[in-house]
Amino acid sequence: MTKYNHCGTGRRDEERKKVNINSTVIAGFQTLNDIGYLLKGKQRVLLVTDKNIAAIPAVQALIDQVRDRVSSLHIVGSVPPEPSQHDVAAILAALESRDVDLVIGVGGGSVLDVAKLLSVLCVEDAPGLDALLAGEKPQRRTTSLLIPTTAGTGSEATPNAILAIPEKETKVGIISPVMLPDYVVLAPELTTSMPAHIASSTGIDALCHLIECFTATVANPVSDNYALIGLKKLFTSLETTIAEPENLAARLDMLWASYYGGAAIAHAGTHLVHAMSYPLGGKYHLPHGVANAILLAPCMRFVRPAAVSKFAMAWDLVPGADTSLTDEEKSHALVDYFSALVQRLKLPASLEELGIGADHLPYLVEAALDVQRLMKNVPTAVSASNVRNVYLTLFPALNH
Ligand SMILES: NC(=O)c1ccc[n+]([C@@H]2O[C@H](COP(=O)([O-])OP(=O)(O)OC[C@H]3O[C@@H](n4cnc5c(N)ncnc54)[C@H](O)[C@@H]3O)[C@@H](O)[C@H]2O)c1
Ligand SMILES: [Zn+2]
Repeated sequence: MTKYNHCGTGRRDEERKKVNINSTVIAGFQTLNDIGYLLKGKQRVLLVTDKNIAAIPAVQALIDQVRDRVSSLHIVGSVPPEPSQHDVAAILAALESRDVDLVIGVGGGSVLDVAKLLSVLCVEDAPGLDALLAGEKPQRRTTSLLIPTTAGTGSEATPNAILAIPEKETKVGIISPVMLPDYVVLAPELTTSMPAHIASSTGIDALCHLIECFTATVANPVSDNYALIGLKKLFTSLETTIAEPENLAARLDMLWASYYGGAAIAHAGTHLVHAMSYPLGGKYHLPHGVANAILLAPCMRFVRPAAVSKFAMAWDLVPGADTSLTDEEKSHALVDYFSALVQRLKLPASLEELGIGADHLPYLVEAALDVQRLMKNVPTAVSASNVRNVYLTLFPALNH
């Protein structure tokens, strides 16, 4: 018998079983104006962001608001996309002090992951970054506030921070519920400046989180709830945000879809798409959402037979879906919908069109199978030749 409590997943991994999301979430248009009370009593604030985000007027206003209210504000203002362990080590080395009583992260997943790491590294007796990478678990963190500007990774709701490891040409996740923030602000006006290709690829990342968690071996009633609410919001709002970039209601729905994707990860876990995309990010530096978009339909086509009823439930949430189909038909229709959605969003659908050669196939297969943390969540057995065959579909010329 599998036992669930509200925050439990029924997994054997104790760390994951204890995950609970109890952040205070403040969501809505212009909510950034109302967060002054979060700064009360805070003296030394570390604000983590990147150059594109610092240029957003609402972020400038946030920085001014913080500067006016606290005695010391240090800004880490140049987090690179898809940060590596060396980027974080360099940021740490450049800090004048680790005596911080509030960490604010405002940005995409890259920024938020770094902010989460800094929140556990900037406390007394914190383990070092190398120790975290070696599996040591942090015990505590400073107060933290995460404000996503992509929708997205849902990093603000997950216990994960993902870092590239250039020497191994892959990415790893540092995982601890201690990194879950105290506060989250979902402010739709921060996401309207995203270029369409970033809104599309990060939106597909959120979709992958939701559908993978929904169909994972570790899925459970809690993660299923998050996944279903998130999928419904995403199916109705992702394309609207591309067609109408200033539509704040759709932008807020996408922020929620992304948040629910993160919450589903916290209570379950992703599987095949993410396992196979890590080496694409690690070796070819493809943005996370782009790598996932390329893999979404091929991976879902592979897992479909093991997830027919869940796929059918997801299909029923697609606006205008023919709900009179059989479950088997619905599951095929969902895979076709994913494939067409990636095309409509003008995201790449093959590695060939990105100039990536098939000569790296053996490396890709081995590296993906190495991501055991996620491979064990795939709802069906996966062999090396299965993984190879899925990657092969990303080289259409080879298939002719
Ligand atoms: N922690 C988690 O649970 C989790 C989950 C999925 C992915 N990730 C990680 O998150 C990272 C990717 O994050 P991401 O997809 O959000 O992209 P990102 O943070 O790398 O941002 C991509 C680009 O978009 C720009 N950008 C972000 N918001 C913008 C805005 N509102 N306006 C204009 N430009 C904007 C950034 O400056 C950057 O150049 C990867 O490292 C990935 O591995 C983490
Ligand atoms: Zn992801």
